[in-house]
Amino acid sequence: MEVKAYLVGGGAREVMRAFVNQISTDKLQHFVFDIDIAVEGDAIALAEALADEYGGALIRNDRFRTAKWIKETGYSIDIAMCRREEYPIPGKLPEVIGEAEIYEDLLRRDYSFNAIAISISKDDFGVLYDPTGGVGDIFNKTLRVLKPLSFFEDPTRMIRAIRYSVRLNYKIDEETSLLLLQGIEESYIDQVSPERVRYELECILNEDFWFGILWAMHTSNLLSALHPEWNQLPTVSGSDTEVLELGIRNQEELLEQDMVPPWLVRLSWSLVSVRIEALWDVLKRLGVHKRLAESMLEAREKFDEVAARMNHAGFSPSRIYRVCQEYARKTLLFIAFNSYLEKNTEPLRSNLMKHLRELSPSRTVLPGERLISMGLPAGPLVGKVQEELWWRKIDGELPDDNAAEKAARELIERYLSRPIV
Ligand code: CTP
Repeated sequence: MEVKAYLVGGGAREVMRAFVNQISTDKLQHFVFDIDIAVEGDAIALAEALADEYGGALIRNDRFRTAKWIKETGYSIDIAMCRREEYPIPGKLPEVIGEAEIYEDLLRRDYSFNAIAISISKDDFGVLYDPTGGVGDIFNKTLRVLKPLSFFEDPTRMIRAIRYSVRLNYKIDEETSLLLLQGIEESYIDQVSPERVRYELECILNEDFWFGILWAMHTSNLLSALHPEWNQLPTVSGSDTEVLELGIRNQEELLEQDMVPPWLVRLSWSLVSVRIEALWDVLKRLGVHKRLAESMLEAREKFDEVAARMNHAGFSPSRIYRVCQEYARKTLLFIAFNSYLEKNTEPLRSNLMKHLRELSPSRTVLPGERLISMGLPAGPLVGKVQEELWWRKIDGELPDDNAAEKAARELIERYLSRPIV
């Protein structure tokens, strides 16, 4: 289409980091999670042409004149128009004020190492565009903003600065540090919506060094700038996080089944030292969706009660099931993961995990129609008998259908000899 296109963002940064650190580009797949292409011209038209030619789906964003091109493999490429931007309201998303050439597009970006472009056009393929000295900063392992107002206009960049400096192990340049300090002291972050804060937290909590990043945010007062009540972390020890990570890895399937992404488990764990009276307000500020916030709060409120009832070894499966049934699944899940911070809680975790993985939800041992044909009147008693059959089943008392039928007969007799209310 005769448009000029460039690899930008994290992709360009990582190519140059690989070059500077003499890492083979074969390894880039471990560092580049998304590919951003900037186009001088109509990015959406280019994305449409690519999808026509090579298949895949497009998600268009007309406000920013970008399109996400998603291939069947699930891999996606962001294609954006090179643009000029303005921040009419600091803390809110910028307004696009017009088309630009690559240089100008790079100058609107966050840090010098993210303001690098590598041409992927036919006539100058591979040419490097680095108007702000990004490659020099990669050599010096330095994070540097491009203009004094950067954090004021987009305070999420303060969070991103800490995230990159820990991830890449880069120092923050002196002037940038002063601007960051000023941004924290003057609470620029207050202008950012909870949704945008949540996105930044999700990015942090999906990083390998998430705890190091939170720790750096804590020591630089950025956590308490997010909410004054988030003024400490539950541990200073990296080995506590390792134990949590091991738990998350062992329970990947369970988390997927209950649709709780690992980053939320890490968040709930990281908020254990926030006062319970303030937790709801903190969760609201961090943009956690209402339902999940309710579960996290309930997990804190009910922790001691559930631990007192369930932190014992040797319970029968039906006992575990009957106690755990009184609580919502997600509440138990957050209690289980938060409990990694408490000593001697293995029995609690093992009981809760057993319940969540094997015992709940209960499965039908005998269908309702079968119980009715055996003489049980239709109505709430059917559910009661089915529930009791399940208790016996998980305790291993019903090895086959005959045993289940026999147990059902006994239960029906017992229930029918009682007055039915
Ligand atoms: N960007 C910016 N200001 C922001 C967010 C992003 O200037 N607040 C620019 C940066 O140039 C960044 C690019 O948009 O490199 C893409 O952003 P993003 O996908 O969030 O990060 P990546 O740089 O791709 O880094 P990674 O995926 O490795 O975290």
